Amino acid sequence: MDFRKDTLLSLPFKLIEVFFRNLSSSRLTVLLTSAFTLFSIFFLFAQEADVQAGKKLFNANCASCHKLNKKAVGPALKGVSAKYDREWLYSWIKNSSAMIKDGDPQAIAVWEEYNKVAMNAFPMLSNADIDNILAYSDYTPPAPVAVASNQQPASSSGTSNDLILVALTLVFIILVVMLFLVQKTLKRIAFASGVDISPTVKEKRPPLWQVVAKNHFLIFLLVVGFLLSSAYFVYGFLMQVGIDQGYMPVQPIHYSHKIHAGANQIECKYCHSSARVSKHSGIPSLNVCMNCHKNIAEYNGEEDIENGYTKEFYTKEIKKLYDAVGWDEDNQAYTGNIKPVKWVRIHNLPDFVYFNHAQHVQVGDIECQTCHGPVEEMEVMYQYSSLTMGWCINCHRETNVKVKDNEYYAKIHEELSKKYGVEKLTVAQMGGLECGKCHY
Ligand code: HEC
Ligand code: HEC
Ligand code: HEC
Ligand code: HEC
Ligand code: HEC
Ligand code: HEC
Repeated sequence: MDFRKDTLLSLPFKLIEVFFRNLSSSRLTVLLTSAFTLFSIFFLFAQEADVQAGKKLFNANCASCHKLNKKAVGPALKGVSAKYDREWLYSWIKNSSAMIKDGDPQAIAVWEEYNKVAMNAFPMLSNADIDNILAYSDYTPPAPVAVASNQQPASSSGTSNDLILVALTLVFIILVVMLFLVQKTLKRIAFASGVDISPTVKEKRPPLWQVVAKNHFLIFLLVVGFLLSSAYFVYGFLMQVGIDQGYMPVQPIHYSHKIHAGANQIECKYCHSSARVSKHSGIPSLNVCMNCHKNIAEYNGEEDIENGYTKEFYTKEIKKLYDAVGWDEDNQAYTGNIKPVKWVRIHNLPDFVYFNHAQHVQVGDIECQTCHGPVEEMEVMYQYSSLTMGWCINCHRETNVKVKDNEYYAKIHEELSKKYGVEKLTVAQMGGLECGKCHY
C-alpha cells in the first residue's frame, strides 16, 4: 500500500526530504554554531545596554547618597539585589518611607541601622528602570584573563550573569544533540517508508552560499533575524540620542515647582527674571527665596503621603534653606554662616550651540511651557523636551514669526514676505535654519 505518493500525507515527508537534502549534518553544525555565537554577542550587548542605562539612572538619582563599594549617606549598593527579594526592592526604592510607616520589619531594620535617615522616594522609576539600576550595581567588569590561580573568587553576585551564559550554552548543546537525533530518526522513518532522501548525485557539494540561496526557509530565517537585530540596534541608538530627555536629578533642597508655580501661583519670572532680558534664564539666588521664607518657616499645604511628601518632610526642606543661608529662626537674624546650595543643572545644550531665552520668550512670545512642559505640575523638575537639533528645527519650520506690534521685524518682514510671496513667515524662512544662527 503506497498512499504517500498520492495523498496529501506525503507533503510533510517531501518537505523534510527537501530540507535534509539541502542541509547535511556538518552544515547544520556550522549553522547552529554561528547562530549561537551571534546570539551570545547579542546577549552581551543587550546586557551592556542595561548596565549603561542603569549607570545613568544611578548617577542621576542615587549617587548623591550611595556609592557602589563604600558606605555614604546610605549603604554601599554593590550586590544589593542578592540581599533582598526583587519585589521588596521595587517598593523600597519607589517609596521606602511608606514601607517603614506600614511596619515592614525589613524596612524598619535598615532604616534604624542608618539612624532613621529617610531615603528619597522615586515613584517615577519603573520596575524596568530599577532592574537597570540593579544591573549596574551588580555589574562586575570582565576580569582580566590571567588571574592568579590561588585567588579566592570574588563573592559578588556578578557571577549570576556568567551562570546565565553557561546555562544558555548547555541549552544550545542539548538542542544540537537533539536535532541530530531527530534527523537520524527521521532518516530512518523515511527509509522505512520508502522515501528516497539520499542525494541523487553525490559528486561535489555546492558551496554553502548556494545551499542557503536555494533554501527559501533559511533565507526567510536570516532576513527575519537580520531585521530584528538591526531594529534593536537602531532603537538603542535613537534612545541614546535623546537620553537626557526626562533627566530628573535629585536636588540638594527638594524645591517643588508644583507647590510654588502651581498651588501658590508664583510667576516664573519672579524667580527666573532674566529669561525675558538675557540669553540665560538663571536660577534664583537664595536671597530671593528668603523674601518669602523669612515668614514661611513651616509647610501647611497639601500633602502627598503616598509618595512620602508629608508636611514634616516639606518643613524639613525649608529648614535646609535656613541652614544654607544661615538664618537663625529664634533671633530672626542672619548668622553669616553661609553654605551655598549647588543646584544640579538639568537643561544643558552643548557649548557649540547658541540659544537665547530673550529671543524666544520676549521677541518670539513663546510660553515657557511650550519648551519646558507643564512646570506648574512638576513636583520634581525634569527635562521635558529632547533639546536635539531636530527639535529646534522642527519648531522653526512650523512656527510663524509674530510680527504684529513687533517693530524689530516690521521692515524685514515686509521685504521677506514679498520675496516668498506669503502673508506669514515661518522662522525658517526668516533664516532660522542657517547653521550659523545656532552654531558658533
Ligand atoms: C537622600 C539620600 C538617598 C538617595 C538619593 C537614595 N538613597 Fe537609598 N538609601 C538611603 C539611606 C539613608 C538608606 C538606609 C536606609 C534608610 O535609612 O532609610 C538607603 C537604603 C537603600 C537601600 C537598602 C540597602 C541595604 O543594603 O539595606 C537600597 C536598595 C537603596 N537605598 C537604593 C537606592 C536607589 C536605587 C536609589 C536611587 C534610585 C537611592 N537608593 C537613592 C539614602 C538615599
Ligand atoms: C519661587 C521660585 C521659582 C519659581 C516661581 C519658578 N522657578 Fe523654576 N526653578 C527654581 C529653582 C530654585 C530651580 C532649581 C531647582 C530645580 O531644578 O528644581 C528652578 C529650575 C527650573 C528649571 C530647570 C533649570 C535647569 O537646571 O535646567 C526650569 C526649566 C524652570 N525652573 C522653569 C520654570 C518655569 C517655567 C516657571 C513658571 C511656571 C518656574 N520655573 C517658576 C525656582 C523657581
Ligand atoms: C513668592 C514667595 C516664595 C518664594 C520667592 C519662595 N517660596 Fe518657597 N514657598 C512659598 C510658599 C507659599 C510655600 C508653601 C507654604 C505652605 O503651603 O504652607 C513654599 C514652600 C516651600 C518649601 C516646601 C515645599 C517644597 O517646595 O518642597 C520649600 C522647600 C521652599 N518653599 C523652598 C524655597 C526655595 C529654595 C526658594 C528659592 C528658590 C523659595 N522657596 C522661594 C513661597 C515662596
Ligand atoms: C524655545 C524654547 C524655550 C522657551 C520658550 C523657554 N526655554 Fe528655558 N531653556 C530652553 C533651552 C533650550 C535651555 C537650555 C539652555 C542652555 O543649555 O544653554 C533652557 C534652559 C532654561 C533654564 C536653565 C538655566 C539656563 O538659562 O540655562 C531655566 C531656569 C529656564 N530655561 C527657564 C525658562 C523660563 C522661566 C521660561 C519662560 C519665561 C523659559 N525657560 C522658556 C528652552 C526654552
Ligand atoms: C517652540 C518653538 C521653538 C523652539 C523649540 C526653538 N525655537 Fe528658536 N525660534 C523660535 C521662534 C518663534 C523664533 C523667532 C523669534 C523672533 O521673532 O525673533 C526663533 C528664533 C531663533 C533664533 C534667531 C533666528 C534668526 O533668524 O534670527 C535662533 C538662533 C534660535 N531660534 C535658536 C534656537 C535653538 C538653538 C533652539 C533649540 C535649542 C531653538 N531655537 C528652539 C521658535 C523656537
Ligand atoms: C535652530 C538651531 C540649529 C540650526 C539652524 C542648526 N543646528 Fe546643528 N545643532 C543644534 C543643536 C541644539 C544641537 C545639539 C543637539 C544635541 O545636543 O543633541 C546641534 C548639533 C549639531 C551637530 C552635532 C551633532 C551631534 O549629534 O552632536 C552638528 C554636526 C550640527 N549641529 C551641524 C549643523 C549644520 C551643518 C547646520 C546647518 C545646516 C545646523 N547644525 C543648523 C541646533 C541647530
